[in-house]
Amino acid sequence: MFRRAAGIFLCLGLGVSLAACSYRVDKNDDLKGEIRPSAELISRVSFNDIYTRVLQPKCISCHGISGGVNLENYASARTFLSRIYRSTVVERRMPLAPIPALNREELEIVAAWVEAGGPEFPLNGAPTEPLPPPPVLEPTFASIKEVIVDRKCLQCHSAGGKAERIPLTKLSDFLDSPLEIVLPGNADESGLVLVLLEDARKRMPPPETGMAPVSAQEIEVIKEWISNGATD
Ligand code: HEC
Ligand code: HEC
Repeated sequence: MFRRAAGIFLCLGLGVSLAACSYRVDKNDDLKGEIRPSAELISRVSFNDIYTRVLQPKCISCHGISGGVNLENYASARTFLSRIYRSTVVERRMPLAPIPALNREELEIVAAWVEAGGPEFPLNGAPTEPLPPPPVLEPTFASIKEVIVDRKCLQCHSAGGKAERIPLTKLSDFLDSPLEIVLPGNADESGLVLVLLEDARKRMPPPETGMAPVSAQEIEVIKEWISNGATD
């Protein structure tokens, strides 16, 4: 797979000195079976850790509350304990593209949490921060960016992504785009709304990725923001 191929740089040309030659193999595939979290990590890991460091950034754009596999809260994520372990640490199938593979540190957190038995709070009894409640979408740019765009769009719509020619990283990207992504005051003709609709020709996020669609309720909040003038 691409992970194996990704890190290999070939040095060509006689004029290149050996020192300048870079041969790097991405070790990710070789990690299989090698993820052995320390006893210390196992004793202090909590759901808060795995949520903020792995599930939130790498899983819930596809496995949020609207998906079949809901990893958005403790009670639900806990029921998938062994499947989370198998799909990430053992088989390395999750996360799916375009979300980048888990690095060693993230894999160790998953393995530690599973070995600890999937606790909500650390086994060593240390006080732990309660998990912040999942953010509720509000009709402001900051909220739409945090809850929708950062989770479900940026993997492709930012530098290096598949749709980098249509960046969606800051407010002006939406307002100034020739694609009329946001037309302040005119939600129904704004590209941002049109691509989210269930019957969109090019629906976003693309259904074949397995990413959970933006809900009808969330679309209404986005429309409210645009109708109100789409300000910062
Ligand atoms: C880009 C989308 C995407 C991302 C990101 C993603 N998944 Fe999945 N995942 C899927 C799809 C699609 C399925 C199959 C359909 C289903 O069961 O919901 C699936 C299935 C699963 C399943 C159940 C089936 C099985 O193989 O055991 C688990 C558990 C799972 N994913 C865990 C994770 C974890 C943990 C992460 C983050 C580290 C993750 N996924 C990230 C798309 C994704
Ligand atoms: C898996 C990658 C991927 C994700 C995730 C994704 N997009 Fe896209 N998007 C694309 C690609 C590729 C295109 C170009 C499609 C084409 O022109 O054929 C595109 C095109 C678009 C367009 C322009 C459509 C047009 O041609 O008028 C908009 C607007 C858009 N995306 C918004 C979004 C939004 C909003 C999200 C998040 C909710 C999102 N996209 C998530 C890949 C993605």
